[in-house]
Amino acid sequence: MTDSYLIKGGKPLRGEVILSGAKNVALKTIIAALMFKGDVILKNIPKINDVLDLIELIKSLGATARFMEKNTLIINGDTLKSNKVELQYGSKIRVSFMLFAPLLNRFGECFVPNPGGCRIGARPIDRIIKGLVALGVKIDYDTETGYYHAKIVDKPKGKYHFEKPSHTGTELLMMIGLMTDEKVEIDNIANEPEIDDLILYLNSAGGNIVEDKNKITINKSSGLIQKDAFTIMSDRNELVTYATLAVASGGDVIISPINENLITSFLEIMKESGAGVEKISNFKFRFFYQGKIKPVNIETSPHPGFMTDWQPSWAILMLKATGESVIHERVFENRFSYVDELKKLGANIDFVDIKVEHPEFFYHFNHEKNKVYQQTIKIQGGEELHNAILNISDLRAGAALACAALLAEGESVVNGASILERGYEDFVEKIKKLGGEIKKV
Ligand code: EPU
Repeated sequence: MTDSYLIKGGKPLRGEVILSGAKNVALKTIIAALMFKGDVILKNIPKINDVLDLIELIKSLGATARFMEKNTLIINGDTLKSNKVELQYGSKIRVSFMLFAPLLNRFGECFVPNPGGCRIGARPIDRIIKGLVALGVKIDYDTETGYYHAKIVDKPKGKYHFEKPSHTGTELLMMIGLMTDEKVEIDNIANEPEIDDLILYLNSAGGNIVEDKNKITINKSSGLIQKDAFTIMSDRNELVTYATLAVASGGDVIISPINENLITSFLEIMKESGAGVEKISNFKFRFFYQGKIKPVNIETSPHPGFMTDWQPSWAILMLKATGESVIHERVFENRFSYVDELKKLGANIDFVDIKVEHPEFFYHFNHEKNKVYQQTIKIQGGEELHNAILNISDLRAGAALACAALLAEGESVVNGASILERGYEDFVEKIKKLGGEIKKV
């Protein structure tokens, strides 16, 4: 099986990138489509491994799904016949736990395995399960099989306050709220724009979801029926990957389509680093090298802050900065699997210990008092990078490693391409179009 990239680095990348649809919207719109009556047409769905795995999963439950054109997917959940997510499908993709919503909606009862997914920390779903219970869903967990058994005993209703916000948690509870004619309120929600896109899709089909700052109210909604095909938003994470790579390589890349409001914190920090940023038109940006890159420290946080998914790409740009920068990860634990790999290229990068006053509030994961965490790295920019053999172990780190190999002199091998391709459509083609030397081997 070809699962590696052979990359010859050291060239400035130039040209244009057309962004694919957002992975983190595609997956949820596909799952939510199973709550609709009749056909659902979704446009701009990226053909990435996560989407393809999810399609196999929903087909295994009895739904139909097929691509009509490259990125147009038609789904029909009327034929759902199973209320159990089989482990061989569910374990491949973390968002499989969001199937609680369509399966409870259809069968009133379902069996869903504890989710797999990215290796970026423990990633429990404790707050999400508490939320389901608070809305009246009965849930048991079988420690032997690793399955949740969820059952509707009464119409879901009521309020839930997230102790700390959760992106997919907000989305799942919102979908549960659509199953009932009772009012459902969720507060201290996550505010990612991907959630807004999901709301737009659900409301355009009869949902009555109202978002107000940190709160979402789901009022009596009609059954979901699609009127017009829905086009999902572009992938912000993909933009950040190509924009940082463009500048770090000394190149010049135009990226579209993207709404400026979705990347404000990224644009600000890019400008602060001295990178060239030009708004060409409403949905088109140019990112280019225009001289020395300054080190800029970042701290990740939920939207509208600097996103956790962007920090591995930021590390790649900082490898080229003239001095020392610090990245502090607040959202996930274990999101630095790229550190040891980058060292193989000659990068001067290491973990540092930064004391935080109230870690239990500061970090978004469940912080345990006596556990040792590595949440901060220091990068001394400017080291010459040479070729190496690198191994990908999670999606965003994987993109960072492939980008780092593109900056390094000589020929590198990056193993684990299929992990990167869980979230990046046509990665090889897009890089080649920018003049990068990469091939799948
Ligand atoms: N958390 C808990 N318990 C919960 C829920 C969350 O401890 O019940 C912790 C998580 O482990 C994490 C933090 O809370 O440390 C925030 O997690 P959140 O639930 O917000 O993240 P998520 O929904 O699992 C989604 C995206 C991530 C993205 C984050 C932040 C999808 C499929 N995934 O994850 O995307 O980084 O929100 O915006 O939408 C990626 O695309 O590579 C990716 C990891």
